[in-house]
Amino acid sequence: MTVTIVREDAIAVVTVENPPVNALSQALRQALVDAVAELDADAAVKAVVLICAGRTFIAGADVSEFGKPPQPPHLPDVVASIESAKKPWVAAIHGSALGGGLEVALGCAWRVAVPSASLGLPEVKLGIIPGAGGTVRLPRLIGPAAAVDLVTSGSPLGAKKARELGLVDAVLEGDLRTGAIAFATEVAEKSSPPPISDRVVPAVGAGFWENAEKAVAAKAKREVAPLRALAALRKASETDFASAMEFERETFLELRGSAQAAALRHVFFAERAALRPPELAGITPRDIRSAAVIGGGTMGAGIAAALRDAGLPVVLIERDKVVVERGLANVRAIYQGSVKRGRITQSVADERMAGIIGGDDYGLLGDTDLVIEAVFEDLAVKRAVFEKLSSVCRPDAVLATNTSYLDPGAISEGVSHPELFLGLHFFSPAQFMKLLEIVPTKRTAPEVLATGFALARLLGKVPVRAGICDGFIGNRILKVTRAQAERVLLSGATPSTVDAAMRAFGLPMGPFEAQDLGGLDIAAFQRKAARERCEAPFAPVADRLCAIERFGQKTGGGWYDYQPGDRAPKPSETVAKIIAEEAVGRPQRVWDDAAIADAILLPMVNEATCILEERVALRAADIDLVKIHGYGFPRWRGGPMHYAEARGLTEVVAVLEGLAADGLAEPPCEALRRAAQAGRFSALAE
Ligand code: 3HC
Ligand code: NAI
Repeated sequence: MTVTIVREDAIAVVTVENPPVNALSQALRQALVDAVAELDADAAVKAVVLICAGRTFIAGADVSEFGKPPQPPHLPDVVASIESAKKPWVAAIHGSALGGGLEVALGCAWRVAVPSASLGLPEVKLGIIPGAGGTVRLPRLIGPAAAVDLVTSGSPLGAKKARELGLVDAVLEGDLRTGAIAFATEVAEKSSPPPISDRVVPAVGAGFWENAEKAVAAKAKREVAPLRALAALRKASETDFASAMEFERETFLELRGSAQAAALRHVFFAERAALRPPELAGITPRDIRSAAVIGGGTMGAGIAAALRDAGLPVVLIERDKVVVERGLANVRAIYQGSVKRGRITQSVADERMAGIIGGDDYGLLGDTDLVIEAVFEDLAVKRAVFEKLSSVCRPDAVLATNTSYLDPGAISEGVSHPELFLGLHFFSPAQFMKLLEIVPTKRTAPEVLATGFALARLLGKVPVRAGICDGFIGNRILKVTRAQAERVLLSGATPSTVDAAMRAFGLPMGPFEAQDLGGLDIAAFQRKAARERCEAPFAPVADRLCAIERFGQKTGGGWYDYQPGDRAPKPSETVAKIIAEEAVGRPQRVWDDAAIADAILLPMVNEATCILEERVALRAADIDLVKIHGYGFPRWRGGPMHYAEARGLTEVVAVLEGLAADGLAEPPCEALRRAAQAGRFSALAE
């Protein structure tokens, strides 16, 4: 049963129970329509409370039904039937009233909520717009300005703010069911407010919609849904209810079938699946109640802040007392940045800092549950750190390395309990970047691996399991990105045209701008190490730039020139000259944006397929998450693997063959050819 009805004197309590999040499946929609009919016919019932079992109110339409043809009763009709019910319905909200869930609540005569409830219309985050009256009823209830914010951002509101806006009628402390029944008993005696559909949208000032359009377009960049949602809100304010509903529904159905919606749905489910890898089902993680970080540089400070933000007490260990102070200053600077941007208050920043103890004495770690090492990228230095940790930490403490490229197995060689050791690869800035690559060694115990995933959940990160290879998943693909960008450069493009093409594809920055920002020296160091291993990384121009110490913005020049105090990249004659010299004898092409994007992205997909085949990544969707959450790949493209599948793997193979024929890329790997035959990457695991 998805809906049960219990009579409490004159109040009927309709309880929805459709775990895990009470999504509006076809069965639930039908059950709600049936409940309206049953209670309309019951003269003893004076008012109805709509409440949900489990962790949340209705969290929205059932996203898993979006790939299929819509089945009646359609949600707008369900909401209309509740709105036109003969008895007043009171939505009693706990957890989240999202999307279709909030639309159902808007059909009710009244809305009450617990203080911790959140309410929102997150549809734009799924590449769609509300499809059951959200854009039409909401501006009628809370006015167009607040509705524009809520609908075009997709971000939910807390109950208190919702009360201020008039989105809920009361915030109830104590037991929700009891409070909602008391509320319903009271309102049953008075006349209900007119249905929202009978109200008019408050007037807006001159230029309101034009200004909103500019603001939304600037934020949405190439995402389609926010502007379409705005158009629906405008329609709702400029036309009658029925026409606005029709316009909204048409837009909703059109976007539901769009490529962007499919990509965003893919990411939605991939993110949730990432937190619960099937191979760890039934394995209980260890409790992590305290943590320590070794090394308070760029990464260590960010990791310490991330751990502290999740409520853990943190010890930060550095080499000596002077560097300890620098490490603590690095964390403080992170918090001051957050205060400046209004993300947290000064008192929160102070409280976070107070929970971080700095020191150079490893004896501080005697009772720590988890230690994360973030010292220099040097095997001997890291091994020495772990040797010390083995002698001072509790024998059951989990030890982790944040290495980017070294083999965690080799780092762990001297530790006393290698089964408690794993790689936890954070991304810079670690306090914000969502990706956490979790890298078990051959000896990592399953519950320690599970602890890595539990930690990610605690920190609000997206965990992806990665196997051991040079660069794990993300940085291994990044090497291909950079090499391809140079190949394109040497065959007729310029840094500016390459960067512009990748921005046009949807990346926040092109590969050359990104290198100038992060510094070219780190990659140069990796190439040196690779050459020592007799590998031959391709970077003729980058090598020459590093040889003349053009390391990027920090040295006033890299792929571009920079004026002091100005981060705007200017084309560089020095770089153009080096490119021209290195391009001699190479085939030249005429490049447009699409061809540049293909020449960079599709070889990344090829490398990613090898990564899948080698089981360095377990699922194609995990690779998508790595690129989206670690490297700024546009979410609405669904990640490189989703993009390749949506485009057609046969076409991807054909483009790669064309590039390979001109010496512009490796030929497609055998695994990619096999995946292309099946039309999907999941075939590789079969
Ligand atoms: N449809 C189908 N499944 C959903 C779902 C939905 N709307 N929302 C969540 N789920 C599933 C998840 O995939 C996950 O499944 P799994 O256990 O098999 O992995 C399970 O429910 C639990 O989800 P979370 O792990 O996300 O649970 P949390 O407790 O962390 O978060 C939540 C709960 C805040 C409700 C969160 O799930 C969420 O934000 N859900 C999406 C809400 C949403 O986007 N709603 C709008 C849908 S579009 C719509 O309503 C259109 C309408 O206008 C017509
Ligand atoms: P960093 O140079 O900014 O910081 C390293 C810190 O470690 C320094 O403050 C140094 O004093 C300290 N340190 C060195 N030896 C120590 C010891 N024996 N005991 C205690 N502290 C010691 O380096 P960064 O960038 O923070 O990198 C740290 C690690 O994180 C490296 O392994 C790196 O590969 C990895 N990493 C770096 C990323 C980045 O973007 N910078 C991203 C992801 C991982």
